[in-house]
Amino acid sequence: MLPLTYTKIATIILIVVLAQTLMEVSSLPEYDKISSLPGQPFVNFQQYSGYIAVDDQQQRALFYYFVEAEVDPASKPLVLWLNGGPGCSSVGVGGFIEHGPFAPGENGLLRNDYSWNREANVLYLESPAGVGFSYSSNKSFYNLVTDEITAWDNLVFLQRWFTEFPEYSNNEFFITGESYAGHYVPQLAKLIVETKTKINLKGIAIGNPLLEFNTDFNSTAEFLWSHGLISDSVFGVLNYACSFSQIRRELQINNNLGGVCERVYKLLLNEVSNYIDYYDVTLDVCLSSVGQQAYVLNQLVNDFLVFLTLALRAENKSLKVDVFH
Ligand SMILES: *[C@@H]1O[C@H](CO)[C@@H](O)[C@H](O)[C@H]1NC(C)=O
Ligand SMILES: *[C@@H]1O[C@H](CO)[C@@H](O)[C@H](O)[C@H]1NC(C)=O
Ligand SMILES: *[C@@H]1O[C@H](CO)[C@@H](O)[C@H](O)[C@H]1NC(C)=O
Repeated sequence: MLPLTYTKIATIILIVVLAQTLMEVSSLPEYDKISSLPGQPFVNFQQYSGYIAVDDQQQRALFYYFVEAEVDPASKPLVLWLNGGPGCSSVGVGGFIEHGPFAPGENGLLRNDYSWNREANVLYLESPAGVGFSYSSNKSFYNLVTDEITAWDNLVFLQRWFTEFPEYSNNEFFITGESYAGHYVPQLAKLIVETKTKINLKGIAIGNPLLEFNTDFNSTAEFLWSHGLISDSVFGVLNYACSFSQIRRELQINNNLGGVCERVYKLLLNEVSNYIDYYDVTLDVCLSSVGQQAYVLNQLVNDFLVFLTLALRAENKSLKVDVFH
C-alpha cells in the first residue's frame, strides 16, 4: 500500500476543517429542514417547519413554516406572519395563498413572483394552539384560550424558536399580520416590550386589521355604496337604522341577527347578491350554467320588488320607525 502523500493528507485535513466550519456556521436544526415539498420547483433558499412546545406540562405545541430569504438571508430582516380568524391558518393562507414562495397550481406547486421571501426571512406561525397544525393535548385549552394566553404562547414560541435558530437573533425583527391579527400583533409586541425580552423588535405591520367592533366596519357600507353595489336607499338605512359595525358585532357575538339589523342586512344582501366577493368586488361573476343564471335573475327581480317597497318607505323619514318595528 502506498503511503499517503502530503497532498492527500493536506486534502483530508482541509475537508475535516471545512466540515467543522460548516457545522459551526450552520447550527440551524437539520431535523426541521424541508428537503423539498411535493411538486415543488427547484429553489436556492432553505425551508424549515416543525413544532415548538410552548407548554411542556400541558403538551401544547405551535407549528411553524420558515422560509429563508432568497438572497443573503443573514442580512435580511426576520418577519413573523400571523393570520387572523380567530382560527385562520398562517401556513395555509399566508404561506401558500397570500405571500409565501409557492402557491398550489394544477400540477403541483408554482413559484409566487411576489413572495415576501424575496426581501425577508419569513416565519409563518399557526397560533393559538388549535389552529392549523398547532395543538394542545389538553383539549379544554380550546375553550379557555384568550388573546392574552395567545400572546404569552406566542412569546414562549419566539424565545424557544430563537434558541433553535440563534443565527437570527440579531436580525431586525418585525411582527406582521392581518384581520384578527390586528389583536395578535400589537399584543405580542407589547408583551415583548413589557417583559423586556431580548428580541430585536423593530416594528409591526397590520393589514386590514380588526381592532374594535363598534367602529371598524362602518366603512364597509361606504365602500359598497361608492362601488355601486348598494343603492342610496340602503346606504341611507345603514347610516341611521343599523350600522355595518352593529351588524358585524351581532353576527360575531350572537352568530345571528335580530330585529332592525336583520332587516337591514337582508336589504343589503339582496342588492349585493351572493355573487360578489366582498374581498375583491372586481372579480368576474362566474355562474355554472345558464339555467342557474336565469334562476338567480328571477330571484333578483323578486328580491328587488320587496326591497323597492321597503326602501321607498325607508326613505320617507316620517315613516322610518314603522319600517323597522
Ligand atoms: C387541562 O386544562 C384545564 C384548564 O387549564 C385544567 O383545569 C386541567 O387541570 C387540565 N387537565 C390536565 C389533565 O392537566
Ligand atoms: C358607526 O356607526 C354607529 C351607528 O351609527 C355609530 O354609533 C358609530 O359612531 C360609528 N362609528 C364610526 C367610527 O363612525
Ligand atoms: C311618506 O309619509 C307621508 C306621511 O308623512 C305619507 O303620506 C306618504 O304616503 C309617505 N310616502 C311613502 C312613499 O311611503
